[in-house]
Amino acid sequence: MDRSEEIRSWAADIEFERVGPVKRALKRAVVNPLVNYIPAGAMKSVLRFSKSELAQANWTDPGGWKSMVISYHGKPTQIADKFMVNGSAMSMALRNRRLLAARLLFKLIEQADAAGGDRGVHALCLGAGPGRIIIDALLEAPESSHATLVDISSDAFEYGHRLAESCGVGDRVKYVKGDVRDVKDMLDPPPVVVKMIGICEYLTDEQIVDIARALTDVMATGGSVVFNSISTAHGTDRFFRRVMGLHMIHRSPEQLSALFAQAGFENFVSIPEPLGVYHVIVGRLEGDET
Ligand SMILES: C[S@@+](CC[C@H](N)C(=O)[O-])C[C@H]1O[C@@H](n2cnc3c(N)ncnc32)[C@H](O)[C@@H]1O
Repeated sequence: MDRSEEIRSWAADIEFERVGPVKRALKRAVVNPLVNYIPAGAMKSVLRFSKSELAQANWTDPGGWKSMVISYHGKPTQIADKFMVNGSAMSMALRNRRLLAARLLFKLIEQADAAGGDRGVHALCLGAGPGRIIIDALLEAPESSHATLVDISSDAFEYGHRLAESCGVGDRVKYVKGDVRDVKDMLDPPPVVVKMIGICEYLTDEQIVDIARALTDVMATGGSVVFNSISTAHGTDRFFRRVMGLHMIHRSPEQLSALFAQAGFENFVSIPEPLGVYHVIVGRLEGDET
């Protein structure tokens, strides 16, 4: 089995959320045009009136960690949130991305652990929020593995600490307030695995290349980076921009991988979640093992 087949096999048994052809056609023909083209002011009023926590979280901090938590948790109480969290392609795709990224991270950590070294594998998570995905991965990974979680917004950390404690991995995570654009200050000890899930869509090409270059400067051969691309397959970009205030940069897996390649990462393996909104991509630093 080559490396690409091996990584794909890791994801083969994940039980993803899917949308059937009828529901998909209905969304494309009716629901998406409605949410995209109803005047933004009217949509905002409805969301405000229905006390949507998801909308409020995005208005306060567009693309921030609280909206992730609401989508991951999947049990909203407000009616508009029930519709968006349970039925929208974006929320379903987010939960799929969580499953996929956590599985790939767990397997990469496990593999790096088996490859040697008596110190536990260190994962660096950029734009980590409270760390839901890396906590999922650490729960499966060898107990010596540990993670540094970096986020610009430290108010994710209290929630994250409690989450990690409740999962039994509280002593394996460290939260650091910082801007991923200053990643050079966060590389001691050098990470073996780097997670950039839910962050590239908010960064420019130049910022991504700078971050990737800082990583390749310190990471050893065999180190991996895990990141995601986002496509417009969710069908509601106009709604996100006008109503939610979310301005995401959509790139293909190839475009995004090319940015990491400029810094020296190679052998990209890109796996889509079934809704086609996200691809989770693994890139590796190749070279002579020392
Ligand atoms: C969409 S959330 C993703 C959270 C988590 N990675 C996940 O996938 O569940 C994006 C996170 O990136 C953080 N963020 C955005 N820009 C950042 C920056 N320049 N430096 C550090 N964190 C940043 C936000 O505060 C937020 O918590």
